[in-house]
Amino acid sequence: MKKKIVITGGAGFIGSHVVRQFVLKYPEYHIYNLDALTYAGNLENLRDIENAANYTFVKGDITDEEFIQELFQKEQFDGVIHLAAESHVDRSITDPLAFVKTNVIGTVNLLQAFKALWQDNWQDKRFYHVSTDEVYGTLGESGLFTETTSYDPNSPYSASKASSDHFVRAYGETYNMPYVISNCSNNYGPNHFPEKLIPLCIHNIIHNKPLPIYGDGKYTRDWLFVIDHARAIDDVFHKGGNTETYNIGGFNEWQNIDLVKELCKQMDQVLGRTAGESEQLITFVKDRPGHDLRYAIDATKINKELGWSPSVSFPEGLAKTIDWYMNNQEWLANVTSGAYQDYYKEQYK
Ligand code: NAD
Ligand code: DAU
Repeated sequence: MKKKIVITGGAGFIGSHVVRQFVLKYPEYHIYNLDALTYAGNLENLRDIENAANYTFVKGDITDEEFIQELFQKEQFDGVIHLAAESHVDRSITDPLAFVKTNVIGTVNLLQAFKALWQDNWQDKRFYHVSTDEVYGTLGESGLFTETTSYDPNSPYSASKASSDHFVRAYGETYNMPYVISNCSNNYGPNHFPEKLIPLCIHNIIHNKPLPIYGDGKYTRDWLFVIDHARAIDDVFHKGGNTETYNIGGFNEWQNIDLVKELCKQMDQVLGRTAGESEQLITFVKDRPGHDLRYAIDATKINKELGWSPSVSFPEGLAKTIDWYMNNQEWLANVTSGAYQDYYKEQYK
Protein backbone atom coordinates (compact mmCIF):
# COMPACT_ATOMS: atom_id res chain seq x y z
CA MET A 1 0.00 0.00 0.00
CA LYS A 2 1.16 3.54 -0.75
CA LYS A 3 2.55 5.58 2.13
CA LYS A 4 0.19 8.41 3.00
CA ILE A 5 1.84 11.75 3.72
CA VAL A 6 -0.14 14.81 4.77
CA ILE A 7 1.45 18.19 3.99
CA THR A 8 -0.25 21.03 5.86
CA GLY A 9 -0.29 24.54 4.36
CA GLY A 10 0.37 23.05 0.93
CA ALA A 11 -1.52 25.83 -0.88
CA GLY A 12 0.78 28.52 0.52
CA PHE A 13 4.09 29.83 -0.74
CA ILE A 14 6.59 27.23 0.49
CA GLY A 15 3.99 24.47 0.93
CA SER A 16 3.03 24.52 -2.76
CA HIS A 17 6.66 23.95 -3.78
CA VAL A 18 6.97 21.12 -1.26
CA VAL A 19 3.74 19.48 -2.47
CA ARG A 20 4.96 19.66 -6.09
CA GLN A 21 8.37 18.22 -5.14
CA PHE A 22 6.79 15.25 -3.33
CA VAL A 23 3.98 14.56 -5.82
CA LEU A 24 6.34 14.49 -8.79
CA LYS A 25 9.29 12.75 -7.15
CA TYR A 26 7.50 10.10 -5.11
CA PRO A 27 4.78 8.26 -7.06
CA GLU A 28 5.00 5.62 -4.32
CA TYR A 29 3.45 8.10 -1.86
CA HIS A 30 -0.04 9.50 -1.77
CA ILE A 31 0.23 13.19 -0.89
CA TYR A 32 -2.62 14.93 0.94
CA ASN A 33 -2.53 18.71 0.94
CA LEU A 34 -4.41 19.91 4.04
CA ASP A 35 -5.05 23.65 3.87
CA ALA A 36 -7.73 26.05 5.13
CA LEU A 37 -7.20 28.38 2.13
CA THR A 38 -6.76 31.53 4.21
CA TYR A 39 -5.80 34.76 2.40
CA ALA A 40 -2.34 33.17 1.92
CA GLY A 41 -3.52 29.86 0.47
CA ASN A 42 -4.14 29.63 -3.25
CA LEU A 43 -4.91 26.51 -5.28
CA GLU A 44 -3.75 28.37 -8.40
CA ASN A 45 -0.25 27.62 -7.08
CA LEU A 46 -0.81 23.92 -7.82
CA ARG A 47 -2.75 23.86 -11.11
CA ASP A 48 0.00 21.86 -12.83
CA ILE A 49 -0.25 18.88 -10.47
CA GLU A 50 -3.85 19.04 -9.23
CA ASN A 51 -4.92 16.03 -11.33
CA ALA A 52 -1.97 13.81 -10.38
CA ALA A 53 -3.06 10.32 -9.34
CA ASN A 54 -1.07 10.50 -6.10
CA TYR A 55 -2.47 13.87 -4.95
CA THR A 56 -5.56 14.86 -2.93
CA PHE A 57 -6.50 18.31 -1.67
CA VAL A 58 -8.38 18.48 1.64
CA LYS A 59 -9.83 21.82 2.68
CA GLY A 60 -9.66 22.01 6.46
CA ASP A 61 -8.57 24.05 9.43
CA ILE A 62 -5.86 22.65 11.70
CA THR A 63 -7.43 24.50 14.65
CA ASP A 64 -10.60 22.36 14.30
CA GLU A 65 -9.82 19.56 16.77
CA GLU A 66 -12.72 17.26 15.88
CA PHE A 67 -12.15 17.58 12.14
CA ILE A 68 -8.42 16.87 12.47
CA GLN A 69 -8.98 13.82 14.71
CA GLU A 70 -11.53 12.37 12.27
CA LEU A 71 -9.36 13.06 9.22
CA PHE A 72 -6.33 11.33 10.76
CA GLN A 73 -8.42 8.32 11.85
CA LYS A 74 -9.95 8.03 8.40
CA GLU A 75 -6.80 8.44 6.30
CA GLN A 76 -4.22 6.86 8.66
CA PHE A 77 -1.38 9.16 7.63
CA ASP A 78 2.10 7.64 7.94
CA GLY A 79 3.82 10.99 7.95
CA VAL A 80 3.06 14.66 8.58
CA ILE A 81 4.99 17.56 7.04
CA HIS A 82 3.62 20.57 8.86
CA LEU A 83 3.89 23.98 7.23
CA ALA A 84 0.43 25.52 7.83
CA ALA A 85 0.86 28.72 9.79
CA GLU A 86 0.14 32.37 10.03
CA SER A 87 3.48 33.53 8.63
CA HIS A 88 3.67 37.33 8.45
CA VAL A 89 5.39 39.19 11.30
CA ASP A 90 3.50 42.47 10.70
CA ARG A 91 0.13 40.72 10.95
CA SER A 92 1.26 39.07 14.20
CA ILE A 93 1.85 42.52 15.66
CA THR A 94 -1.74 43.59 15.00
CA ASP A 95 -3.41 40.21 15.76
CA PRO A 96 -1.26 37.97 18.00
CA LEU A 97 -4.14 35.66 18.95
CA ALA A 98 -4.62 34.49 15.36
CA PHE A 99 -0.99 33.32 15.54
CA VAL A 100 -1.49 31.52 18.85
CA LYS A 101 -4.54 29.76 17.43
CA THR A 102 -3.04 28.48 14.18
CA ASN A 103 0.62 28.14 15.05
CA VAL A 104 0.31 26.82 18.59
CA ILE A 105 -3.13 25.23 18.98
CA GLY A 106 -3.17 24.06 15.35
CA THR A 107 0.19 22.33 15.82
CA VAL A 108 -0.91 20.68 19.07
CA ASN A 109 -4.10 19.45 17.36
CA LEU A 110 -1.99 17.75 14.70
CA LEU A 111 0.31 16.23 17.33
CA GLN A 112 -2.69 14.94 19.28
CA ALA A 113 -4.25 13.37 16.19
CA PHE A 114 -0.96 11.73 15.16
CA LYS A 115 -0.46 10.41 18.69
CA ALA A 116 -4.00 9.00 18.87
CA LEU A 117 -3.31 7.13 15.64
CA TRP A 118 0.10 5.55 16.25
CA GLN A 119 1.11 5.77 19.91
CA ASP A 120 1.15 1.97 20.24
CA ASN A 121 3.44 1.55 17.25
CA TRP A 122 5.52 4.44 15.96
CA GLN A 123 7.45 2.28 13.49
CA ASP A 124 8.17 4.11 10.19
CA LYS A 125 6.13 7.13 11.30
CA ARG A 126 7.41 10.70 11.36
CA PHE A 127 6.14 14.17 12.31
CA TYR A 128 8.16 16.86 10.53
CA HIS A 129 7.70 20.39 11.83
CA VAL A 130 8.82 23.17 9.47
CA SER A 131 9.95 26.16 11.49
CA THR A 132 11.85 29.40 11.18
CA ASP A 133 15.17 30.94 12.18
CA GLU A 134 13.19 33.74 13.87
CA VAL A 135 12.81 31.53 16.98
CA TYR A 136 16.45 32.37 17.79
CA GLY A 137 15.71 36.10 18.06
CA THR A 138 18.21 38.52 16.64
CA LEU A 139 21.95 38.52 15.95
CA GLY A 140 24.25 41.50 16.33
CA GLU A 141 26.53 42.43 13.47
CA SER A 142 28.41 39.13 13.57
CA GLY A 143 27.77 35.47 14.36
CA LEU A 144 25.43 32.83 12.96
CA PHE A 145 22.47 30.86 14.32
CA THR A 146 23.38 27.22 14.94
CA GLU A 147 21.10 24.38 16.06
CA THR A 148 22.21 24.97 19.67
CA THR A 149 21.53 28.73 19.74
CA SER A 150 19.07 29.50 22.57
CA TYR A 151 15.52 30.38 21.68
CA ASP A 152 14.84 34.10 22.14
CA PRO A 153 11.84 35.08 20.00
CA ASN A 154 10.90 38.76 19.76
CA SER A 155 7.66 38.98 17.76
CA PRO A 156 4.29 37.32 18.41
CA TYR A 157 4.93 35.35 15.19
CA SER A 158 8.31 34.03 16.30
CA ALA A 159 7.03 33.39 19.84
CA SER A 160 4.19 31.28 18.41
CA LYS A 161 6.61 29.34 16.18
CA ALA A 162 9.00 28.82 19.13
CA SER A 163 6.10 27.54 21.18
CA SER A 164 5.09 25.08 18.46
CA ASP A 165 8.71 23.84 18.20
CA HIS A 166 8.66 23.20 21.96
CA PHE A 167 5.40 21.27 21.74
CA VAL A 168 6.81 19.04 18.99
CA ARG A 169 9.89 18.28 21.13
CA ALA A 170 7.65 17.66 24.15
CA TYR A 171 5.61 15.06 22.23
CA GLY A 172 8.86 13.37 21.27
CA GLU A 173 10.10 13.28 24.87
CA THR A 174 6.78 12.42 26.50
CA TYR A 175 5.11 10.09 24.00
CA ASN A 176 8.14 8.92 21.95
CA MET A 177 6.68 10.47 18.84
CA PRO A 178 9.33 10.34 16.09
CA TYR A 179 9.91 13.90 14.96
CA VAL A 180 12.29 16.16 13.14
CA ILE A 181 12.38 19.98 13.02
CA SER A 182 14.01 22.42 10.63
CA ASN A 183 14.53 26.16 11.06
CA CYS A 184 14.97 28.08 7.84
CA SER A 185 15.90 31.62 6.88
CA ASN A 186 13.95 33.96 4.54
CA ASN A 187 12.64 32.29 1.41
CA TYR A 188 11.96 34.04 -1.89
CA GLY A 189 10.70 32.87 -5.27
CA PRO A 190 7.53 32.26 -7.29
CA ASN A 191 4.13 32.26 -5.51
CA HIS A 192 5.32 34.42 -2.60
CA PHE A 193 2.43 36.46 -1.23
CA PRO A 194 3.05 40.19 -1.87
CA GLU A 195 2.82 41.24 1.76
CA LYS A 196 6.48 40.10 2.15
CA LEU A 197 9.38 42.37 1.17
CA ILE A 198 10.51 40.96 -2.21
CA PRO A 199 7.13 40.29 -3.88
CA LEU A 200 5.69 43.49 -2.39
CA CYS A 201 8.50 45.50 -3.99
CA ILE A 202 8.16 43.67 -7.33
CA HIS A 203 4.43 44.44 -7.32
CA ASN A 204 4.98 48.08 -6.39
CA ILE A 205 7.76 48.61 -8.93
CA ILE A 206 5.50 47.27 -11.69
CA HIS A 207 2.76 49.70 -10.58
CA ASN A 208 5.08 52.65 -9.86
CA LYS A 209 4.08 52.70 -6.19
CA PRO A 210 6.32 53.59 -3.21
CA LEU A 211 8.68 50.88 -1.92
CA PRO A 212 8.29 51.02 1.87
CA ILE A 213 11.57 50.45 3.73
CA TYR A 214 11.21 50.07 7.50
CA GLY A 215 13.54 52.23 9.63
CA ASP A 216 16.96 52.88 8.10
CA GLY A 217 16.86 49.77 5.88
CA LYS A 218 20.00 48.35 7.49
CA TYR A 219 18.21 45.24 8.79
CA THR A 220 19.79 42.09 7.43
CA ARG A 221 18.24 38.82 6.25
CA ASP A 222 19.67 35.61 4.77
CA TRP A 223 17.76 34.71 1.58
CA LEU A 224 17.16 31.23 0.15
CA PHE A 225 15.40 30.31 -3.11
CA VAL A 226 12.17 28.50 -2.20
CA ILE A 227 12.87 25.45 -4.37
CA ASP A 228 16.12 24.91 -2.45
CA HIS A 229 14.07 24.95 0.76
CA ALA A 230 11.70 22.34 -0.74
CA ARG A 231 14.75 20.17 -1.60
CA ALA A 232 16.04 20.57 1.95
CA ILE A 233 12.63 19.56 3.37
CA ASP A 234 12.74 16.43 1.19
CA ASP A 235 16.23 15.60 2.55
CA VAL A 236 15.31 16.26 6.18
CA PHE A 237 12.09 14.23 5.93
CA HIS A 238 13.85 11.23 4.39
CA LYS A 239 17.36 11.34 5.86
CA GLY A 240 17.17 13.53 8.97
CA GLY A 241 17.89 11.86 12.32
CA ASN A 242 15.03 11.25 14.75
CA THR A 243 14.58 14.12 17.28
CA GLU A 244 17.14 16.20 15.36
CA THR A 245 16.96 19.84 14.32
CA TYR A 246 18.47 21.19 11.10
CA ASN A 247 19.12 24.84 10.28
CA ILE A 248 18.57 25.70 6.62
CA GLY A 249 19.92 28.86 5.00
CA GLY A 250 21.39 30.38 1.88
CA PHE A 251 24.72 31.81 3.18
CA ASN A 252 23.35 34.90 1.43
CA GLU A 253 23.00 37.97 3.65
CA TRP A 254 21.61 41.26 2.39
CA GLN A 255 20.72 44.50 4.09
CA ASN A 256 17.14 45.34 3.07
CA ILE A 257 18.11 48.60 1.40
CA ASP A 258 20.80 46.94 -0.76
CA LEU A 259 18.45 44.12 -1.67
CA VAL A 260 15.71 46.52 -2.77
CA LYS A 261 18.23 48.57 -4.80
CA GLU A 262 19.40 45.38 -6.54
CA LEU A 263 15.77 44.48 -7.26
CA CYS A 264 15.16 47.97 -8.69
CA LYS A 265 18.20 47.58 -10.94
CA GLN A 266 16.99 44.27 -12.37
CA MET A 267 13.40 45.52 -12.71
CA ASP A 268 14.56 48.64 -14.62
CA GLN A 269 16.12 46.35 -17.21
CA VAL A 270 13.11 44.04 -17.42
CA LEU A 271 10.64 46.93 -17.70
CA GLY A 272 12.82 48.90 -20.13
CA ARG A 273 13.13 51.82 -17.70
CA THR A 274 16.17 54.07 -17.51
CA ALA A 275 18.76 53.03 -14.91
CA GLY A 276 17.87 54.40 -11.47
CA GLU A 277 14.19 55.03 -12.27
CA SER A 278 12.64 52.41 -9.96
CA GLU A 279 15.04 53.32 -7.12
CA GLN A 280 13.29 56.67 -6.90
CA LEU A 281 10.27 54.80 -5.52
CA ILE A 282 12.18 53.88 -2.33
CA THR A 283 10.45 55.46 0.67
CA PHE A 284 11.63 55.14 4.26
CA VAL A 285 8.66 54.48 6.57
CA LYS A 286 8.00 53.90 10.27
CA ASP A 287 9.96 50.94 11.64
CA ARG A 288 8.43 47.57 12.58
CA PRO A 289 8.12 47.35 16.41
CA GLY A 290 10.59 44.84 17.89
CA HIS A 291 12.33 44.59 14.49
CA ASP A 292 15.09 41.94 14.59
CA LEU A 293 18.36 43.45 13.35
CA ARG A 294 19.90 40.45 11.66
CA TYR A 295 19.29 36.78 10.88
CA ALA A 296 22.01 34.52 9.50
CA ILE A 297 22.07 30.75 9.43
CA ASP A 298 24.93 28.33 9.86
CA ALA A 299 23.77 25.50 7.59
CA THR A 300 26.85 23.33 8.16
CA LYS A 301 24.98 20.48 9.86
CA ILE A 302 22.50 19.81 7.04
CA ASN A 303 25.35 20.14 4.55
CA LYS A 304 27.68 17.70 6.35
CA GLU A 305 25.07 15.18 7.52
CA LEU A 306 22.52 15.20 4.69
CA GLY A 307 24.59 16.53 1.79
CA TRP A 308 22.26 19.48 1.15
CA SER A 309 23.42 22.85 -0.11
CA PRO A 310 21.67 25.64 -2.02
CA SER A 311 21.67 25.01 -5.78
CA VAL A 312 20.40 28.38 -7.02
CA SER A 313 22.62 31.46 -6.73
CA PHE A 314 20.98 34.71 -5.62
CA PRO A 315 21.28 36.55 -8.97
CA GLU A 316 19.82 33.51 -10.74
CA GLY A 317 17.03 33.11 -8.16
CA LEU A 318 16.12 36.78 -8.24
CA ALA A 319 16.00 36.77 -12.05
CA LYS A 320 13.77 33.65 -12.00
CA THR A 321 11.52 35.28 -9.40
CA ILE A 322 11.13 38.52 -11.38
CA ASP A 323 10.48 36.50 -14.50
CA TRP A 324 7.75 34.51 -12.75
CA TYR A 325 5.96 37.63 -11.48
CA MET A 326 6.21 39.31 -14.91
CA ASN A 327 4.63 36.22 -16.49
CA ASN A 328 2.00 35.78 -13.80
CA GLN A 329 0.56 39.25 -13.42
CA GLU A 330 -2.95 37.82 -13.32
CA TRP A 331 -1.97 35.82 -10.21
CA LEU A 332 -0.56 39.01 -8.70
CA ALA A 333 -3.67 41.02 -9.63
CA ASN A 334 -5.96 38.35 -8.12
CA VAL A 335 -4.17 38.15 -4.79
CA THR A 336 -3.86 41.92 -4.44
CA SER A 337 -7.54 42.64 -5.04
CA GLY A 338 -10.14 42.65 -2.25
CA ALA A 339 -8.90 42.14 1.33
CA TYR A 340 -5.28 42.87 0.36
CA GLN A 341 -6.21 46.51 -0.31
CA ASP A 342 -7.59 46.92 3.23
CA TYR A 343 -4.55 45.23 4.74
CA TYR A 344 -2.19 47.44 2.73
CA LYS A 345 -3.97 50.68 3.67
CA GLU A 346 -3.92 49.77 7.35
CA GLN A 347 -0.28 48.59 7.38
CA TYR A 348 1.21 51.51 5.42
CA LYS A 349 -1.13 54.34 6.41
P1 NAD B 1 2.17 31.19 3.77
O1 NAD B 1 1.55 32.21 4.65
O2 NAD B 1 2.49 31.54 2.36
O3 NAD B 1 1.24 29.91 3.71
C1 NAD B 1 0.62 29.37 4.84
C2 NAD B 1 -0.39 28.33 4.38
O4 NAD B 1 -1.01 27.78 5.54
C3 NAD B 1 -1.52 28.92 3.50
O5 NAD B 1 -1.78 28.08 2.41
C4 NAD B 1 -2.71 28.96 4.44
O6 NAD B 1 -3.97 28.83 3.78
C5 NAD B 1 -2.42 27.77 5.35
N1 NAD B 1 -3.05 27.92 6.67
C6 NAD B 1 -2.99 29.01 7.49
N2 NAD B 1 -3.73 28.79 8.59
C7 NAD B 1 -4.25 27.54 8.47
C8 NAD B 1 -5.08 26.73 9.29
N3 NAD B 1 -5.55 27.19 10.46
N4 NAD B 1 -5.39 25.49 8.88
C9 NAD B 1 -4.92 25.01 7.70
N5 NAD B 1 -4.17 25.74 6.86
C10 NAD B 1 -3.82 26.99 7.25
O7 NAD B 1 3.45 30.69 4.55
P2 NAD B 1 4.90 30.28 4.00
O8 NAD B 1 5.72 31.49 3.87
O9 NAD B 1 4.74 29.35 2.87
O10 NAD B 1 5.44 29.47 5.27
C11 NAD B 1 5.16 28.09 5.44
C12 NAD B 1 5.80 27.60 6.71
O11 NAD B 1 7.22 27.77 6.64
C13 NAD B 1 5.35 28.33 7.96
O12 NAD B 1 5.23 27.38 8.99
C14 NAD B 1 6.47 29.32 8.24
O13 NAD B 1 6.55 29.59 9.62
C15 NAD B 1 7.67 28.55 7.76
N6 NAD B 1 8.79 29.36 7.27
C16 NAD B 1 8.59 30.35 6.34
C17 NAD B 1 9.68 31.06 5.85
C18 NAD B 1 9.53 32.14 4.81
O14 NAD B 1 10.50 32.82 4.50
N7 NAD B 1 8.37 32.32 4.21
C19 NAD B 1 10.98 30.78 6.33
C20 NAD B 1 11.13 29.78 7.31
C21 NAD B 1 10.03 29.08 7.75
O1 DAU C 1 13.45 34.37 8.64
C1 DAU C 1 12.37 33.57 8.25
C2 DAU C 1 11.11 34.40 8.21
O2 DAU C 1 11.22 35.28 7.09
C3 DAU C 1 9.84 33.56 8.12
O3 DAU C 1 9.72 32.79 9.28
C4 DAU C 1 8.60 34.46 7.97
O4 DAU C 1 7.45 33.66 7.79
C5 DAU C 1 8.80 35.34 6.75
O5 DAU C 1 7.71 36.23 6.61
C6 DAU C 1 10.12 36.12 6.86
O6 DAU C 1 10.04 37.12 7.92
P1 DAU C 1 10.62 38.61 7.75
O7 DAU C 1 9.93 39.48 8.72
O8 DAU C 1 12.09 38.60 7.73
O9 DAU C 1 10.11 38.89 6.23
P2 DAU C 1 9.47 40.20 5.56
O10 DAU C 1 9.46 39.94 4.08
O11 DAU C 1 8.22 40.61 6.21
O12 DAU C 1 10.56 41.31 5.86
C7 DAU C 1 11.92 41.18 5.41
C8 DAU C 1 12.67 42.40 5.91
O13 DAU C 1 12.18 43.55 5.20
C9 DAU C 1 12.47 42.71 7.38
O14 DAU C 1 13.65 43.25 7.92
C10 DAU C 1 11.36 43.77 7.38
C11 DAU C 1 11.64 44.52 6.10
N1 DAU C 1 10.44 45.10 5.42
C12 DAU C 1 9.37 44.29 5.20
C13 DAU C 1 8.25 44.78 4.58
C14 DAU C 1 7.04 43.90 4.36
C15 DAU C 1 10.47 46.41 5.00
O15 DAU C 1 11.47 47.13 5.18
N2 DAU C 1 9.34 46.90 4.38
C16 DAU C 1 8.23 46.14 4.17
O16 DAU C 1 7.25 46.68 3.61
